[in-house]
Amino acid sequence: MLKLEGVHAYYGTSHILHGIDLSIEQGETVTLLGRNGAGKTTTMRTIMGLLRPKEGQVIFRGEVISGHKPFQIARKGIAYVPEERAIFVHLSLVENLKIAQVGMGNNLKGTWTVERIFEKFPTLAERKMHRGANLSGGEQQMLAIARALMSEPDLLLLDEPSEGLAPLIVEELQKVTREIVEEGITVLLVEQDLDMCTALARRHYVMDQGRIVYCGTNEEFMANEEVRNRYLTLSSVERTLAAEE
Ligand SMILES: Nc1ncnc2c1ncn2[C@@H]1O[C@H](COP(=O)(O)OP(=O)(O)OP(=O)(O)O)[C@@H](O)[C@H]1O
Ligand SMILES: [Mg+2]
Repeated sequence: MLKLEGVHAYYGTSHILHGIDLSIEQGETVTLLGRNGAGKTTTMRTIMGLLRPKEGQVIFRGEVISGHKPFQIARKGIAYVPEERAIFVHLSLVENLKIAQVGMGNNLKGTWTVERIFEKFPTLAERKMHRGANLSGGEQQMLAIARALMSEPDLLLLDEPSEGLAPLIVEELQKVTREIVEEGITVLLVEQDLDMCTALARRHYVMDQGRIVYCGTNEEFMANEEVRNRYLTLSSVERTLAAEE
């Protein structure tokens, strides 16, 4: 469904991505792991067209999409939930949802409506008239994901959804993500919470300094202590070990 081939990307003159190769099959959930500054967000931004690769290409369903504008890429069926969530603080929750369908042209099939979102996210329904600014961190994250669903993606890019959230909310987030996968949506997940990664994904990529340094199945990855210790932050490794005990 998605393929990155030798992608190099820059911020100005800073060379950030050094030839990323990555592929995701339809219906798969894949994680992209790595320390702070490894280039995970930059990879997602490049897929979404917010950054144009200087070399290499991004291919979505057999079509080269690198060089296309973000709104064109969204229309093709990719949605991005950024790390910072980017909720419109002055708009109500419902308005935040509806805005995701603006500019989608004829690309909407009607699979996701506000009503259906509220069935899936009952906590959001209770807050529907609240302004973005008055939502908790967890509610904002759920809203960011729900808003992405409103654009009816086939591929969802989730950037560190659990960051800064309480364990109970992380659990809810995991449940919601699993339901999204069950809907047939392909997910590329960037996440520091290794429990969440291994619970949701069957394959993992690890990045370091703008390069893919490892790719393996859940079983291979969990057995590979060296990769985990070398390329992941201590806190996520500690969390995994605690969970294993
Ligand atoms: N707007 C920018 N301008 C210049 N350099 C940037 C910019 N955004 C990120 N970088 C640099 O690019 C590199 C990769 O950053 P990126 O945000 O992709 O990492 P990340 O893996 O998502 O990290 P984190 O886990 O902290 O979110 C880092 O060295 C970072 O300092
Ligand atoms: Mg990031």
